[in-house]
Amino acid sequence: MGKEAKKIVNLDLKDLLNELNKAYADEWLAHYAYLYLARTVTGAGYEDMAEMLEETAKQEAEHAEELANRILELGGTFIASISDLEKNANYPYPKLSKATDDYDAIIKTVTDAEAGAIDVYNRIALKTQGKDHVTYQLVCHILSEEAQHEEKFEDLK
Ligand SMILES: [Fe+2]
Ligand SMILES: [Fe+2]
Repeated sequence: MGKEAKKIVNLDLKDLLNELNKAYADEWLAHYAYLYLARTVTGAGYEDMAEMLEETAKQEAEHAEELANRILELGGTFIASISDLEKNANYPYPKLSKATDDYDAIIKTVTDAEAGAIDVYNRIALKTQGKDHVTYQLVCHILSEEAQHEEKFEDLK
């Protein structure tokens, strides 16, 4: 990011980079959990559930990439080690049900994770609103997708 673009970011950069890195870690945990669930789900209509999970997992990976790009633009670095992802995440890796045909458990895992993500992006949006327009725009975009994820899985109940 150039000098002027950096100058107009009007907030504590270290704190913002920390928040973005924590959200970045959350995205990888969600990506991995959803992909695992997509690959292992069984039971009646499992193909639809697998497809929804896989599509959502892909969007979480896109969010991670978008956050990584913004972290770099702001002059920071994103988490280098996979073992640091869970340590730095806002929430622990979800406890997944052993019953691969338990759709209620899958829906709860996803809706809990999405609710958590919505809170995180809402917090970052409030923090960056009017202070860092580019990050604000990015987190609003991600927030709207997390809200769609939550709704899509809530509707399965
Ligand atoms: Fe996400
Ligand atoms: Fe999501």
